[in-house]
Amino acid sequence: MEQTAKLIVDGKTYEFPLLKGSEGEQAIDISLLRSRTGLVTYDPGYANTGSCKSSITFMDGEKGILRYRGIPVEQLAEHSTFVETAYLLINGNLPDRKQLTRFSVMLNDHSLVHEDMREFFQHFPRRAHPMGILSSMVNALRFFYPELPDQDEEINITTTRLLSKVRTMAAMSYKISRGHRVVYPRPDLLYAANFLNMMFDSPVLPYRLDPEVVHALNVFWILHADHEQNSSTAAVRLVGSSRVNLYAAISAGINALWGPLHGGANQAVVEMLTRIQESGGDPAPFVARAKDKNDSFRLMGFGHRVYKTYDPRAKIMKRVCDQVLARLRVKDPLLDIARRLEETALKDSYFIDHYLYPNVDFYSGIVLRAMGIPLNMFTVMFAIGRLPGWITQWKESIDDPEGKLHRPRQVYTGETKRDFVPLEER
Ligand code: SDX
Repeated sequence: MEQTAKLIVDGKTYEFPLLKGSEGEQAIDISLLRSRTGLVTYDPGYANTGSCKSSITFMDGEKGILRYRGIPVEQLAEHSTFVETAYLLINGNLPDRKQLTRFSVMLNDHSLVHEDMREFFQHFPRRAHPMGILSSMVNALRFFYPELPDQDEEINITTTRLLSKVRTMAAMSYKISRGHRVVYPRPDLLYAANFLNMMFDSPVLPYRLDPEVVHALNVFWILHADHEQNSSTAAVRLVGSSRVNLYAAISAGINALWGPLHGGANQAVVEMLTRIQESGGDPAPFVARAKDKNDSFRLMGFGHRVYKTYDPRAKIMKRVCDQVLARLRVKDPLLDIARRLEETALKDSYFIDHYLYPNVDFYSGIVLRAMGIPLNMFTVMFAIGRLPGWITQWKESIDDPEGKLHRPRQVYTGETKRDFVPLEER
């Protein structure tokens, strides 16, 4: 017997089907609400609105659960690599050895960027933010790689090109911004090691790859690989719903991620911790400001639309932080400040009552600093990690038989009908 939800409007009762997800969460299917009642819903920020059915990532915000294709992120962080996790998200299952090797070979084959694109980097202002450069360059990729006639091949090749070339472009952008010679990807290095080598190798100071740092970068990207219908993924799905090409949809995702309330928070956290350090290291005044309703200041790296407990990724990132700093013998005063800030906030009733806990961005920036990643590239690192998630979510949305052009409704609160007044009468 189909379960339903009843809505009573002006004394009339309407029934709508109740959908049940594979993890037991329920949703009211209101896809016929307006045609049957003339009503729309009002839900700022879509905090209560499911935009799709998805089988990719499951989150439980109350219990702090995160699983990619059913596998807990904790297990993937411990046992997997970013490339293997990307394969899992994109294909739905972990690859066997042959599939993983083929995927790695394809990523290597598509790791170079068209030489003409290097000119683009040369002409951005030196102070251009790498996220703006990245979204421009990803959009431009379509000009160099026109659509293939076979749709499946187009999607497979474009997926591989994006996963591989975005990583190369990020490193290129960094080298060119410093006036250094570009380091090309190497066929003998796997994905994360290749990125670190492209970023930091130099003719006068060869970069020494540290397996622990390579592992930490794999974990960093695994933790960022997908997160169900977050803001940038919703942007990719919305832009993709117009059936524009995947490069343009991913470029939209990069731009949404750039904001300080979303992926830009990892850069904003380190900027906040630096300000606390420069003001003497006491986090209390910043905690007070974050609680002040008249102050727009927010504690960066704290709070989450879904998690109302500790972000499971933040727990792992905190551990990676300790491991990488110990391995590299880095003593970062910002880590001590972050720990003090966390301790202060988590004892404060405001943060407890608002369910504000550290999220993935709170410790991630300190890991990136220890690796030598420049501050303005922190969100680019998030974007590289989120790529397989964006691509998989986009693919699911275009394959969705119930998928439509995204076009929300509104509640109009402006002027009612009035006539035009000629200029001489105003
Ligand atoms: C990411 O969605 C995802 O999955 C995102 C992400 C992913 O992997 O894709 O997890 C990545 O974006 C993590 C979040 C990174 N952003 C930050 O760290 C920025 C700081 N955090 C906040 O701005 C905020 O917590 C959000 C934006 C993350 C979530 O906010 P919501 O769900 O929109 O809630 P809200 O802004 O309506 O706040 C609810 C209350 C408000 O107080 P009241 O008016 O109800 O009294 O909580 C307060 C807010 O003022 N609040 C904070 C706060 N976050 C919320 N107060 C102080 N500091 C904060 N950080």
